[in-house]
Amino acid sequence: MSVEFLDPAPIAGCHKLKNISSGDKAFLPLKNFLKQEALYLHDEDITKTYVACFNVADDDPQRHKVVGYVSFTNSEVCFKEATLPEGLQGLKYQSLPALKISRLMVCSKHRDKGLGRVLMDFAIWMAIETIRPWVGCRLLTVDSKPEAIEFYKRYGFEMIDTPDNLNSDCPVMYFDLRSAMEEDDAALPESSDGEGRKVVSKEQIPVEEPAPDH
Ligand SMILES: CC(C)(COP(=O)(O)OP(=O)(O)OC[C@H]1O[C@@H](n2cnc3c(N)ncnc32)[C@H](O)[C@@H]1OP(=O)(O)O)[C@@H](O)C(=O)NCCC(=O)NCCS
Repeated sequence: MSVEFLDPAPIAGCHKLKNISSGDKAFLPLKNFLKQEALYLHDEDITKTYVACFNVADDDPQRHKVVGYVSFTNSEVCFKEATLPEGLQGLKYQSLPALKISRLMVCSKHRDKGLGRVLMDFAIWMAIETIRPWVGCRLLTVDSKPEAIEFYKRYGFEMIDTPDNLNSDCPVMYFDLRSAMEEDDAALPESSDGEGRKVVSKEQIPVEEPAPDH
């Protein structure tokens, strides 16, 4: 059976967070972050979290049940002593501004149904279309858990190749937004201005209103 998900939406009071399951104990901090901290940090503009729910009718109780999420914060990647990929060679700087995927999780009961891809496509769209054109931001980055390294590689993320990073528990991986755009110029949306700047209105990121108290 194919499962449909709503586009990721900013976390809000109406979202039901308690049933998400982390599966392996190693991912428990990701579940606890969602339940205990994500909404507060989102409202305080410290970490922004976008949640995915099933695409069901408005009055279906499953509608606000969160089955996956991705969180972002600002970051910087330092390439000192690392091999620079071709696309970044010739730049004057060793540190580059980045959007960081600070957390990403799909409920263990709903893995392997394409939701991880939905969240990654959303992260890449967010970085390329809504942030990079307006704020200096060259990379999308993540401190990857060992279990997810191959997952990020599928999306073109590369590892900073310093010994310290390669031996770290959560090595830094990065994705060059500009190279991705050069490879895929034809895929620029019609609403962009030809330089990849898309006019984004607030309405394009849906905000769920809190459900009324009963
Ligand atoms: C990693 C994770 C987000 C993937 O979510 P998912 O919903 O299972 O992924 P999808 O079903 O969308 O898979 C998309 C593709 O990635 C592949 N994939 C999924 N998990 C993978 C993994 N761990 N390693 C390599 N490939 C993986 C799938 O086979 C699929 O490939 P396809 O497009 O060729 O079919 C999910 O397994 C998860 O939440 N893991 C625990 C938390 C975690 O590790 N988070 C990352 C922290 S840095």
